[in-house]
Amino acid sequence: MRKKMVAGNWKMYKTAGEAAILVQNLEDVARDVLGDVEVVVAPPFTALHSVSTVIALDKSPIRLGAQDMFWEEEGAYTGEIAPRMLSDLETSYVIVGHSERRAYFGETDEIVNRKARAVFAHGMTPIVCCGESIETREAGAEADFIAGQIRAGLAGIETMDAMKLVIAYEPIWAIGTGKTASPEQAEEVCAHIRALVCEIFDDVVAARVRILYGGSVKPENAALFFAQPDIDGALVGGAALSVEAFAPIVVAARP
Ligand code: PGA
Repeated sequence: MRKKMVAGNWKMYKTAGEAAILVQNLEDVARDVLGDVEVVVAPPFTALHSVSTVIALDKSPIRLGAQDMFWEEEGAYTGEIAPRMLSDLETSYVIVGHSERRAYFGETDEIVNRKARAVFAHGMTPIVCCGESIETREAGAEADFIAGQIRAGLAGIETMDAMKLVIAYEPIWAIGTGKTASPEQAEEVCAHIRALVCEIFDDVVAARVRILYGGSVKPENAALFFAQPDIDGALVGGAALSVEAFAPIVVAARP
């Protein structure tokens, strides 16, 4: 009943022109799985306009995502991107709290929460990221750590908004390392996240929220994650940068 989602996080890759070509080349697979799998691409800010234009001109089923957003309406915030700048480009999703933003740009749970609420306030949907470090996992403390990130990240979100929420569980030690969590490890945490969502909101929200796994998802391992009951798709980094790698992951998400 939850539609699977496969989202490509293009990180700091692709010029506007390269991004337009990639999204065009992904249209066939997105049409093939239409109805079963929602395909999202999150290019860098400088490519949002070109990708948005391709999506509109081709009436593409691909949904546009952004990788980050500031919460203020507008103002003297050099280098930042406001919510309306994204919604104006038909952006559907905004990734917030990716571990790279937390690690390199000092984003705290409080910042993640402000961003997530601002995304909803502007009619878009946040993909709220969480995930533990290798030290936390080795200490056996991942469940508590994730609970802290989820409770703080989702604080104050309205139940009606929460129905649409997407959460990405991305263990930091699995991102870009070629080392994935086992499907069982990923399922265990995703089930824990769903139980937390039930506690914070209610069982209706918990049944609707989509929870993605991220961290070295590849064509070879994607189906194993998608077969888990609480994993509703994937947030894909490296393998999202070519059609050859991304298209088979999208196909694997088809029930
Ligand atoms: P990866 O990145 O697929 O390259 O591990 C995932 C992510 O950071 O979202």
